[in-house]
Amino acid sequence: MKTIHISASSPYDVLVGSGLLSGAGKLIRSVSAAASAVLVTDDRVDALYGDLVDASLREAGFQSHRFVFPHGEASKNISTWKTLLEYCCSVRLTRGDLIVALGGGVTGDLAGFAASAYQRGIPYVQIPTSLLAMVDSSVGGKTAVDLSNGKNMAGAFWQPALVICDPAALNTLPEEEYRCGCAEIIKYAMIGSAAFFRQLSDLPVCSQYEEVITTCVRMKQSYVAEDEFDTGRRMMLNFGHTFGHAAEACSHFSILHGQGVAIGMSIMARAAVRKGILSSRDRDALLDLIKKYGLPSECSWPAAEMLSAALSDKKSVSGAIRLIVPEGIGSCRIEKVPASDLLSWLEAGGVLS
Ligand code: GLY
Repeated sequence: MKTIHISASSPYDVLVGSGLLSGAGKLIRSVSAAASAVLVTDDRVDALYGDLVDASLREAGFQSHRFVFPHGEASKNISTWKTLLEYCCSVRLTRGDLIVALGGGVTGDLAGFAASAYQRGIPYVQIPTSLLAMVDSSVGGKTAVDLSNGKNMAGAFWQPALVICDPAALNTLPEEEYRCGCAEIIKYAMIGSAAFFRQLSDLPVCSQYEEVITTCVRMKQSYVAEDEFDTGRRMMLNFGHTFGHAAEACSHFSILHGQGVAIGMSIMARAAVRKGILSSRDRDALLDLIKKYGLPSECSWPAAEMLSAALSDKKSVSGAIRLIVPEGIGSCRIEKVPASDLLSWLEAGGVLS
């Protein structure tokens, strides 16, 4: 098992190791004296791992309650959040107890945001079961639900007490979700490590899960330690996300987050070449890797629609957006772009008018 320590305002460990799921309760007991735990999971993950984690919580002496919701982004809303909070009340969860999020990004974001609000904040543990959640969303304390006009529009920074990643859980991950996790992994390589980029080109992620997850979490640790509240360097992790979220919104969320991120990174790479910032060789290397992992690089929504969706995103602040611009493989910069210039980035990125 590997341990990565996250130095946030409320520090915690990320544990990475095959087979950790069955001993999750014991690991959680080492950071919590809670009497009760609410296990939050979706119907799909519940069918696979709900009983296993529930049993391990009970073995470790927790009184375990289970909240199961329908899988998918559509559940990440205020209504599910409110139902979860009311469920916590109904089982008399106290401030000394905890919430355990078992699942992908939707579950972690939803359960984390409920933990941040329940009785003004109780501890929670992340047990990510998707690749995307293991390498990104379960670490760093961003929690949220979607509102009707955008993704993650209501949320809080609330750090977990522990993150438990079991790569064996990825054996049951649908192919499409595997690819989405790979999009976030490619993002890490693009913003910070040419060597990691080469590693992803040479060997598929699925043949090196433990190493890849550890590398991404270590990188994320450095961003979170320096800029926990996302006002500076942590914004680098948004590479591909401004236009990625726009693509997700334009598709009415029929494409997955990782697919949106792949499209967003491709738009930014093409635009950066047109603006003389990135070489065409590095653009092609990125587009090739995106293709190699079965991810999309083009979108069919008109530039005006993408623009409107991008301007509704919460990354738009006082008439400007901070775009993450690739300068080379393993190197990006943060550029403050006036909202009035955003259309030119989309057009330079190959999005048709
Ligand atoms: N997912 C990007 C971040 O945590 O900042």
